[in-house]
Amino acid sequence: MDWKNEPAANRIIVALDCAPDEAIALGEQLAGHARWVKVGMTLYYAVGPSIVRQFHKLGFKVFLDLKLHDIPHQVYGAAASVAAAGADLMTVHAAGGTDMMSSAVKGARKGAADVDLDAERPTVCAITVLTSMDAAQLAAIGVQDEPAAEVERLAALAKESGLDGIVCSPKEAAQMRALLGEDAVIITPGVRPKGAALGDQSRVSTPKEAFEAGASHLVIGRPITRATDPVAAFDEIVASLSE
Ligand code: C5P
Repeated sequence: MDWKNEPAANRIIVALDCAPDEAIALGEQLAGHARWVKVGMTLYYAVGPSIVRQFHKLGFKVFLDLKLHDIPHQVYGAAASVAAAGADLMTVHAAGGTDMMSSAVKGARKGAADVDLDAERPTVCAITVLTSMDAAQLAAIGVQDEPAAEVERLAALAKESGLDGIVCSPKEAAQMRALLGEDAVIITPGVRPKGAALGDQSRVSTPKEAFEAGASHLVIGRPITRATDPVAAFDEIVASLSE
């Protein structure tokens, strides 16, 4: 993905973690302001691939965040289906290993070719360690390293497997930029404008801090979707980047 020539406003991804009707209504309001929406598994499993087409019709690029994790053969097929649905960006768990990740890239290419998309394939990014996992939770599943060391190991495997980038906390973005190089896609959730409610996010950065730390894209949900005026909230975030 050639993201470097895109203005920052086009690199803010609005996470639509809500019911289908509400997600579409938000999309209709944000069309012409935001360039990207993120559809997670709750929304996708409720309505299926048609949701991607609906957001494309509104002019959005779609990040289909299904976090695939299975044997390589199955992930190949799933990635092909995700690509054929028209997703512009997709995710797989790095913990699935290098064979699984490179199968995801191959599957994505096959799916895009099957439906004759303009793009060669969707951008494929890796989930490293879920932020819901702390050192104790990792130890319980047999990972003795600190979360930061595990993130670094999994990100290196993602790079080796030919993935385009990773999803990580803004607090890890600088370290990941150094590891993955200047072209990598580095997507950071856990972003809150100054003064916004934290919700269930604890280690947060402001949008400006996250971009400055090396993120290529930010994922922001509730500060926009739960605002009384989502379009004004989005535009204020964009304005805050040049303050
Ligand atoms: O509403 P909020 O801005 O917290 O939404 C953040 C989005 O990013 C949600 O869709 C959440 O699932 C996702 N996410 C996250 N932390 C991660 C990975 C994904 O918050 N480590």
